[in-house]
Amino acid sequence: MPTNREVYFNLLKSNNKYLTRLVIKSLLNDANGFWDEISLYKSFDLPCNNYDDLLKKIERVKKGEPFQYVLGYANFIDQYFEVNPHVLIPRQETEELVISAKLLIEKAFSTSGNLSIADICTGSGCIAVTLKKYFPFATIYGTDIDDECLKVARRNAKSSEITFLRGNLLDPLIQKGIKVDVVISNPPYIQNHEEIDEQVWKYEPHLALLAKPSTFFYEEIIKKSDAVLNENGLLLFEIGEDMEKPLAEIVDKYYPNAKVIFSKDMHNKMRFLYIIKRGGKNYA
Ligand SMILES: C[S@@+](CC[C@H](N)C(=O)[O-])C[C@H]1O[C@@H](n2cnc3c(N)ncnc32)[C@H](O)[C@@H]1O
Repeated sequence: MPTNREVYFNLLKSNNKYLTRLVIKSLLNDANGFWDEISLYKSFDLPCNNYDDLLKKIERVKKGEPFQYVLGYANFIDQYFEVNPHVLIPRQETEELVISAKLLIEKAFSTSGNLSIADICTGSGCIAVTLKKYFPFATIYGTDIDDECLKVARRNAKSSEITFLRGNLLDPLIQKGIKVDVVISNPPYIQNHEEIDEQVWKYEPHLALLAKPSTFFYEEIIKKSDAVLNENGLLLFEIGEDMEKPLAEIVDKYYPNAKVIFSKDMHNKMRFLYIIKRGGKNYA
C-alpha cells in the first residue's frame, strides 16, 4: 500500500487539470477518514487507507466529475454538506453571502428575540442550515421547486428545525400566510450556458443555473416580497457579475425608498445585493 505522501506526489505529477492540490488533499482526507488538514500531515508517511476505493474515485475526478459529487459532500464555511447531482455544489461566493447576512441580521435585529428567515431556492440547504447554526432561536424556512433538492436539504438539516417547502420561489410562504424578517436567496442567473465552465454545465443541475433573462428570478422574488417580508425586513441576494444596473432598476421599481447596497466579493466583483426595506437613504 503506498503512503499518503506517495499518493499525493504521484497525483500531482500526473498533471491532470482536475487534480489540484485542494482536490488531492480532499480525496486523501476522505480515503483516510480525516476531517482536518493536520491529520493528513501527521499521517503523510503512513499507508493510505482505502486505497482501492480511492483509485476508483481518482478515475472519476480525472474525467472531470466534480470531486464533491464523487465524495458525496462539500465543505461550506465550517461544515460538510451532502451533495449529489440534483443540487448545486455550494460556492465560495455563497459563503461570503451567508457571512455578510449574519452581520447584517445582527445589526438589524435583536439576536435573542423573534427572528424569521426564508432561504429561497435552497438547493442543498447550505444557506438555511448555516443561518440556523448562527441563529438557533430563529424560525427558518427553505423553498425549492425540486423535490430531490429538498430531500438533500432535509438530510443536511439533520435534527435542526428548519421547515422546507416545495414550490415556486415565495409562493409556498404566501400560500401559508407566512411572514419573515429576512429573505435570502441565491437563485439561478445564467442566461447563456456558454458563459459558464464546461465542467459545471456537464455535471451540475441546469435547473439551478439557468434564467432568462438573468434577472428573472430576482424580479419575481422582489415583486412578490412585500407579501412575505415584515416592515423592517431585509432582502439579501447573491448576484451574477454585471447585473448591478438592471437589478438597481428593478429594485427602484418596487422599493423606491429602500436602502440598496451592492457589494463586491473577495475577487472585487460585484456579487451581492442587499435591500433594507425601510432603511431609507440614510441607513448607515
Ligand atoms: C443557484 S442554486 C442555489 C442552491 C443553494 N441555495 C446554494 O446557494 O448553493 C438555485 C436553486 O434554485 C432552485 N430553483 C430553480 N427554479 C426555482 C423556482 N422557480 N422556485 C424555487 N426554486 C427554484 C433550483 O432547484 C436550485 O436548487
